[in-house]
Order: sequence, then C-alpha cells, then structure tokens
Amino acid sequence: MTALRPEFPAAGPMSSAEHTSRLTWQNAPMHLNLSADEVLTTTRSVRKRLDFDRPVEREIVEECLELALQAPTGSNSQGWHWVVIEDAAKKKALADIYKKNFEMYINMPGRVYAEGDMRSAQIGAVRNSAMYLSDNFHKSPLMLIPCIEGRLDNLPSFATASAWGSLLPAVWSFMLALRERGMGSAWTTIHMMNGGEEEAANLLGIPHANISQGGLFPIAYTVGTDFKPAKRLPVSSVLHWDKW
Ligand SMILES: Cc1cc2nc3c(=O)[nH]c(=O)nc-3n(C[C@H](O)[C@H](O)[C@H](O)COP(=O)(O)O)c2cc1C
Repeated sequence: MTALRPEFPAAGPMSSAEHTSRLTWQNAPMHLNLSADEVLTTTRSVRKRLDFDRPVEREIVEECLELALQAPTGSNSQGWHWVVIEDAAKKKALADIYKKNFEMYINMPGRVYAEGDMRSAQIGAVRNSAMYLSDNFHKSPLMLIPCIEGRLDNLPSFATASAWGSLLPAVWSFMLALRERGMGSAWTTIHMMNGGEEEAANLLGIPHANISQGGLFPIAYTVGTDFKPAKRLPVSSVLHWDKW
C-alpha cells in the first residue's frame, strides 16, 4: 500500500469536495505510532470528543478502508459495502432517524446489574455520552454505514454468524485504523430500530431487499488523542475452559 503523501494544493479554485479531500502539509494525517496493544486497548467509543469542526479527508477514509479490507471474510466472499456520507442534508436526515429512535431507546427499561457490578457505575456516563451523540450526530464530518450482501432476517444462526463475521471484524479494523491516525468513531445501531434501517436505505439508495446494514458510525478527528483502556469485567468471569 502506498503511504499518504501530503501535497501542496494546486493553484486555482477548488470545489468543496476537493477542499475537504485534498491533503496539505497542514492537514496531513498524523500517525500516533501506538503499539498494537495500545491501539487495541484505547480505541474507545468516541462521542463527546469528536471534533466536528475539522474536515476529514477522503483519502484517509480510503486508506483506513484498505487496511480494514484485510479482515477475514467468509468463503472469501468479500460481500461488504461501505457507504460514506458527507452530504450535509443526508447526514441530518440520518441523525434525525437516529435521534427519533434514541429517544425511545433511552426511555426503555435498561438491564439491571447486581449490587457492586461495575457496569451499574458506568451507566450514567455512557447514557450521558450517548445523549450527546444523539443531539450532535449530524455535525460529524462524515458518517459510515457498513453493509453486507444479503438480508439476514430469520436465517439460521450459522448463516447470520457467517454474514456478520464477514463484516464486523473489518468495521473494527477500520475503527482501529482511525485511532492510529488521531481519529475516532462510535459503534451505533440504534438508527436501525423501528424501520429506521429501511428509511436510511431509501435515503441513500441502498437496496434494502438484498443488503443488510451493520450500523451507523460517525467519523471525525478526536479532540486530543489520549484515550485510556476501559474498565471491563475480569477475564476470569467470562472465560470457560473445556466446559461452561
Ligand atoms: C453492537 C453495538 C451497538 C452499539 N450501539 C450503540 C448506539 O446505538 N449508540 C451509542 O451511543 N453507543 C452504542 N454502542 C457503544 C457502546 O455503548 C460502547 O461500546 C460501550 O459503552 C463500551 O464503551 P467503549 O466502546 O468506549 O469501550 C454500541 C456498541 C456495540 C458493540
């Protein structure tokens, strides 16, 4: 793969698409040079620290996608498709679908955890951060809807596991590649509730009868690049050797 090489913009007027996609010495992508383990442990769901004011260059999305497409794909089918949205009106329409569903979701009774479970202590911060994203999603410089060929409704688990397994590792690789370049995203699926997946498909011309969406992802530079490992349940509480 060729590395991105910053260039000075050529003389003459630029369209707004060229303007946001052209790399210059000023906006060339930085590499944080994180170790693999650092990338794996510090790629968070970024919501409040998405930089809505800094445009994201198309070339960086393409570079991250080139890396992401190295992920495994069942039977080497490579049935993934990547819809990146930069049109402001379409971003607003998607954010509206998301927000309508989010307002319903956030008022639904949530899971209750046992006394002392760390997830109870984390709920407030996650809700607060999620509310911020819902209110501001339309400001993302770019949005991404990763898709997989096929409709997966009512299929046996072998088929759904194989289909999602042929998309989601690549999506995560994409997020890791963003992180290494000082960018961030947040995994979201709420836009798909209540027919929202089909509404988004109609908006973007995605053939809903044959294509399944994997989620809706903001893409932005992050405000600062210091992210910490999350507190998770201990491995010992979820690891099973030889039997459940
Ligand atoms: C399948 C899936 C769906 C998710 N859906 C949403 C969502 O719709 N909105 C949102 O704000 N976060 C969503 N999240 C992000 C989780 O809230 C987040 O991963 C979790 O709180 C842990 O935080 P971390 O990713 O920073 O470690 C989703 C994550 C996954 C894996």
